[in-house]
Amino acid sequence: MSIRNKLYLLSESDQKDKLLTMPFGLKKQSSSTTITPARLPTSSPHLTNKVNGVNKADPPNLKRRLSSSTCSASSPSSITPVKTTVTTTAPTKKPKPMKCITHSELMVKAIKSKYRPFFTQTNDETDDSPRSSPLKDDYVLTLEYPGTGEYENFLLLKPIKLNARQDDIEEDNDEYHPVNDIYQTAFWIHDCYLTPAQQARLGDGSHGIMRNLTKYRNRRNGPRFAHAVDEFNKVIREFKAAGEIARNAKQLGHPSYDLTCHILYQVYSRTVAHQADALNNYQAFSNYVYGEINASLVNEFITKTNMTSKSVFMDLGCGIGNVVLQVAAQTGCESYGIEIMETPCKMAKRQLKEYATRMKAWSLPTGKVHFRHGDFLDTAANDMYTTMKRADVLLVNNYAFDATTNHSLAQMFLDLKEGTKIISLKSFVPKHHKINQRTLDMPESILKVEEFEYYSEAVSWTNNSGMYYLATVDRSRLKPFYDALYPK
Ligand SMILES: C[S@@+](CC[C@H](N)C(=O)[O-])C[C@H]1O[C@@H](n2cnc3c(N)ncnc32)[C@H](O)[C@@H]1O
Repeated sequence: MSIRNKLYLLSESDQKDKLLTMPFGLKKQSSSTTITPARLPTSSPHLTNKVNGVNKADPPNLKRRLSSSTCSASSPSSITPVKTTVTTTAPTKKPKPMKCITHSELMVKAIKSKYRPFFTQTNDETDDSPRSSPLKDDYVLTLEYPGTGEYENFLLLKPIKLNARQDDIEEDNDEYHPVNDIYQTAFWIHDCYLTPAQQARLGDGSHGIMRNLTKYRNRRNGPRFAHAVDEFNKVIREFKAAGEIARNAKQLGHPSYDLTCHILYQVYSRTVAHQADALNNYQAFSNYVYGEINASLVNEFITKTNMTSKSVFMDLGCGIGNVVLQVAAQTGCESYGIEIMETPCKMAKRQLKEYATRMKAWSLPTGKVHFRHGDFLDTAANDMYTTMKRADVLLVNNYAFDATTNHSLAQMFLDLKEGTKIISLKSFVPKHHKINQRTLDMPESILKVEEFEYYSEAVSWTNNSGMYYLATVDRSRLKPFYDALYPK
């Protein structure tokens, strides 16, 4: 059963009555991972972000699904990203090894039994490029990225699964697809990092190099597709050498929602997808049930709460850190996540490392991201508590949290600064809550709540629509009651 189907099988009324089966205040691990990279200026809006008439494959928010593949000894968790060295100008200093992205090639190689050649035509007599012809299974195609010296290697393979009759294999549309990744990445670079005049060098969906990418991918002509990628690289390298891509990247500022989804899917596929089944290891009917808010709804949260690069965001119970990374990428803000369960937290940290190197490859700013392994309720042991008190936006995906946890969270909210916005999937304020002398000191009384509907595909555990809540800390609502109690 997939995570999507398995989650929250319990009814809401069941959840309410569930006793907590793991103790609060679990001993904290104080390990944390932070990046605070240099930021590019964010002066102007995105360059064009459209697709030039070419239908990029699946919509990005559908792609961040969890893999059903099982972990094996040779799973890519053991992949060590290739290390490169940077030469420095100071002759006395040793060159520092620098982490680079986890290449698609390495990741797919580790699970190669799940892949088959994508291209049916592997020989091209007219192909005079220096590559070996016919293309072999282990042929590595390189794609140039916007960042200086940045590129990625890919194998020209497709993911496969046994068909319903179990007697043949077919393409698995749910798994990571290297050829689609090269193809989409090339189009994102074309659409977002080049001015219209520069794009003309590469053509578009109806002519030139970009057309050839589509045509030869669709015709499954390997050598011609590889040749189109080589030509694409040549042009991009020229623009990079002239400093044009770096200039355009500065203009781009933060990536759009769609580009963010593409990059975060790259991150997810190289770090978590092959081990996503491990996320099923939680105690049923507990606070630790795992589920995700999908990227489209996170995008709505960003807009609704007006987050900017100056905001402070925190996800209480951040799981594998998807929301934290998306908010950081799209806004460039300080973005924090705390997670009690070891496995998802490790994955969040693994994603963060890949995110940092990949954003550099895309020549994009990362925001300041920090993950903490710990219990958000243990305020004494948890240095995130200080950060929480200055947060502008908190997310609590508390759909499966029991009443005790929601109550304890609400008590913590008394310490939040004025104006903090709390997004949750269950309201912290009962519908008929009234402010009066008796309730004046309750956290519910300082929260002004708005209710919104989310639509299908917005969360991982159901295709149905549902509600989310946006509570704003507003102590001014208490003033009339205090004035009445203590007249001047
Ligand atoms: C439903 S998942 C949400 C993941 C992510 N925030 C999202 O919405 O996509 C809830 C997460 O909260 C975590 N959690 C529950 N109680 C916690 C606590 N006391 N401290 C930290 N994390 C907790 C669970 O382990 C689980 O990973």
